[in-house]
Amino acid sequence: MKITSSEFIKGVVGEDRILEDGKPQVAFIGRSNVGKSSTINSLVGKKDLARTSRTPGRTQEMNVFLINNKFYLVDLPGYGFAKMSLGDRKWLHELINWYLFNPFYQQKKIVLIIDAEVGLTKDDIEMLQALDEQKKPVLIVANKIDKIKKSDLNNQLKKLQVQVGDHKIIPYSSKKGIGYRELAGELLQ
Ligand code: GTP
Ligand code: MG
Repeated sequence: MKITSSEFIKGVVGEDRILEDGKPQVAFIGRSNVGKSSTINSLVGKKDLARTSRTPGRTQEMNVFLINNKFYLVDLPGYGFAKMSLGDRKWLHELINWYLFNPFYQQKKIVLIIDAEVGLTKDDIEMLQALDEQKKPVLIVANKIDKIKKSDLNNQLKKLQVQVGDHKIIPYSSKKGIGYRELAGELLQ
C-alpha cells in the first residue's frame, strides 16, 4: 500500500463541515518545531504540501489534507512554544484540545510526534496522559533520529519506550526519509 495522492483541502479553526463528512481522520500533533509538517511532507513525497519553518509556531490553524481520496490528515498547530504571546498560546491550546477531545470527532489515529533526541517534554507528557485518559489510538513518531549518533540510538529508543509505555514508537527522520514505510503502513491500514 502506498500514498498515491495528497492534496491540501483547507485550513480550519473550528467547526467545519469537512470534519463531519464521514471520511476517517488522522491527526498529527506535537510540540512546536518538532517536525509535524516536515513529517507530512516526507510521508506524501512532496516538498511543500505542508508549510514548514525554522520559526516555531508557524502552523496556526488545523490544515486538512486529503490522502488517497480516502482519509483526512490533519496537521495541528504545535504546542509549547514559549515565545508566542500568552493569548496566542492559549487560543492554540484550546483549538488543539477542542478538536482532539471533541466527542463528535473520532480520529482513526493520533500521531504524536516527539523529538527523538530531546525525548518527551513536560508538554508531551501532559498531552500523552490526556490522550491515554480518553483512550485515544496513539502512535508515537520519534522524529529527527538523524541527529542521534548510531551508537546511541538503541539506548535512546529504549529510554523513549519507557517514557511512552505501551505505545508503538516509529523511529523517524523526515530529513533522511527514515521510517517512511512503517508510518505509511500504519496509516493506510
Ligand atoms: P510548527 O508548525 O511550528 O508547530 O512546526 P512543525 O512541527 O510543523 O515543524 P516543521 O516541520 O516546520 O520543522 C521544524 C524544523 O525542524 C525545520 O527547521 C525542519 O527542517 C527541522 N526538521 C524537521 N524534521 C527533521 C528531521 O527529521 N531531522 C532534522 N535534523 N531536522 C528536521
Ligand atoms: Mg507545522
